Amino acid sequence: MNILVTGGAGYIGSHTCVALLEAGHTVVVADNLGNSKAETIDKIKQITNKEITFYQIDVTDEPAVERVFFSHDVDGVIHFAGFKAVGESVEKPLAYYYNNIVGTMILAKACQKYGVHRFVFSSSATVYGENEVPFVETMQLLPTTNPYGETKSMSERILTDAARANPAFSVALLRYFNPVGAHESGLIGEAPSGIPNNLMPYVTQVAKGKLEQLRVFGNDYPTVDGTGVRDYIHVMDLAEGHVVALNNLTEGVHIYNLGTGQGTSVLQLVKAFEEANGVKVPYEIVGRRPGDIAECYADASKAKRELGWTAKRDVIAMCRDAWRFEKGYK
Ligand code: WQD
Repeated sequence: MNILVTGGAGYIGSHTCVALLEAGHTVVVADNLGNSKAETIDKIKQITNKEITFYQIDVTDEPAVERVFFSHDVDGVIHFAGFKAVGESVEKPLAYYYNNIVGTMILAKACQKYGVHRFVFSSSATVYGENEVPFVETMQLLPTTNPYGETKSMSERILTDAARANPAFSVALLRYFNPVGAHESGLIGEAPSGIPNNLMPYVTQVAKGKLEQLRVFGNDYPTVDGTGVRDYIHVMDLAEGHVVALNNLTEGVHIYNLGTGQGTSVLQLVKAFEEANGVKVPYEIVGRRPGDIAECYADASKAKRELGWTAKRDVIAMCRDAWRFEKGYK
C-alpha cells in the first residue's frame, strides 16, 4: 500500500518508515522538520535501499496537505506529526491544542475527501491518566495532568466519531508506552534538540560525557526501589506494531496498547545500561518531577491476541541500540 506518514522524519516516524518499506509498502512523508532533520530521510533510504517521497509541510497547512492527497493515491495514513513534550504543553497549551488537534482534523477531512479508508493514530499511554496499572484498552480514560495528554484523548475522540459517522473510515488508535532505543544500524535514533526531557537520551548523553550526571527524579515512590517505573519498548518493536496494525485494519475503531507489559524502574534502567555497554552513568537523587506518576505499564495482551504482535527486544537491546546511535551521533 501507499502510505502517507506524517512526522516521518521524526524519531518514531522514521523507524516506522523503515518497517513499512521493508514490509513492501511505499511511503510518502510529510514533515515540517520542526523537531527532526531532512537528513533522516536519506538515512531511511540508506537503511532500506528504497525510494521515499518527502514533502516539507506542516499538517496544519490545509492547502499543502490537500496537494499531497491530490498528487498521490494514498491508501492509508499513519499520523505521528505533533508536539509531544508534556512539560512544554503546560507552558504553551494553545500551541499544543492548535497544532495537535487541527493537524488531526485536517488529515481526517482529507481522508474523507479523497476516499482514504485507513488511519493509524499515534496516541499515548498518557491518556489513561490516574488509572490503576497495568493499563487496559477498555479502561475509562481519566483526565491527564497536561494539555499534551488531552490533545491525544481529544484526537482519539475526533477520529472515533469520524469512524462512527463513516463506517468505511477504519481507525487504529495506538497507545505507546515509553519508546527507547534505535535502529540496529545506528543511523537513526532519538536525537532531541537541547537538553533531553526523556530518560534514555539523557542517560546516553551522560554516558558520552555531554551531560555531567543524571538527575533521578525522586526515589520515594511506592515502587520496587522508590524510583519511577515505566514500560520501555524498543522503537523498532513499536514501528513493527504499526505495520501489523495497518495490515490488519478492518472497519471501525481499534485501540491497542503498544508496550511490553513489563515495568522497569529508573535505577534498573541505569544498571542495565551500564552492564549492557560497559560504561558508567553517574547520577544523583533529586526531588520528584511535577506531573510524574509512580508507575506506568501496559496490559499488552490485546495486541498479541488480535494482531499476533508482541514486543521482541529486551531492555538490554534497547540500551545497546540507544548507545550505538549516541556514539555515532554528531
Ligand atoms: C521516565 C522516567 C522520570 C528524566 C514521557 C511522556 C509520554 C511519552 C513518553 C509521548 C520517569 C524519570 C526522566 C530524567 C528521571 N511521550 N526521569 N530523570 O515521563 O514516562 O513519559 O515520554 O508520548 O507521553 O510523558 O518519560 O523518559 O521523561 O521519564 O529520573 O532526567 O524517568 O521521573 O520516572 P515519561 P520520561
